[in-house]
Amino acid sequence: MRIVVLGAKGGVGKSMVALLLVRFLLSLGKRILVVDRDMTGYISWLAGIRGKGLMASVIDNEEHNYLKTFNVDKGILHVLKFYGDGPRLVNDVRQFSREDIANEVRERYREVLSLPHDHIIYDNRGMIEPSEIEFSLDSISLNLTSVPRPLKSFLPG
Ligand SMILES: Nc1ncnc2c1ncn2[C@@H]1O[C@H](COP(=O)(O)OP(=O)(O)O)[C@@H](O)[C@H]1O
Ligand SMILES: [Mg+2]
Repeated sequence: MRIVVLGAKGGVGKSMVALLLVRFLLSLGKRILVVDRDMTGYISWLAGIRGKGLMASVIDNEEHNYLKTFNVDKGILHVLKFYGDGPRLVNDVRQFSREDIANEVRERYREVLSLPHDHIIYDNRGMIEPSEIEFSLDSISLNLTSVPRPLKSFLPG
């Protein structure tokens, strides 16, 4: 199952909800992949990941250890730091329009998704709707070629 924790506002407990879900599912012996798309990289930080995330590593052409694996209870926890390097996220997302960057990010992301897992939990920054990059990458995990964008008219404001 794919679980996306999403909300327009920051500081309202999205990462906390993600962590509680992780703890519950691990207690059932599940294999969990957390994709940390929070700007702050809070869950990655808790997991002990101190280097740059996947996105920043690709853009800066540096090698960082953005994936950590833990055996917890009977379950397994993988934490992928995808963003998590602060406000540079805004510029990093723009870089995704470069084909070389997008391809490298996709390839590395696919590699992480190939780890055996029962559930993926996505923790996100505060946002109203996912950006192009999230749609593009989510289509990999859904094994689809395209995912329809939600109609803007359904959104308030
Ligand atoms: N149910 C709760 N009760 C009290 N404090 C909470 C609760 N959920 C989250 N917090 C605290 O609120 C702050 C923001 O939570 P966080 O999960 O990081 O929010 P977000 O991911 O939406 O930015 C943190 O300091 C967290 O410990
Ligand atoms: Mg958060």
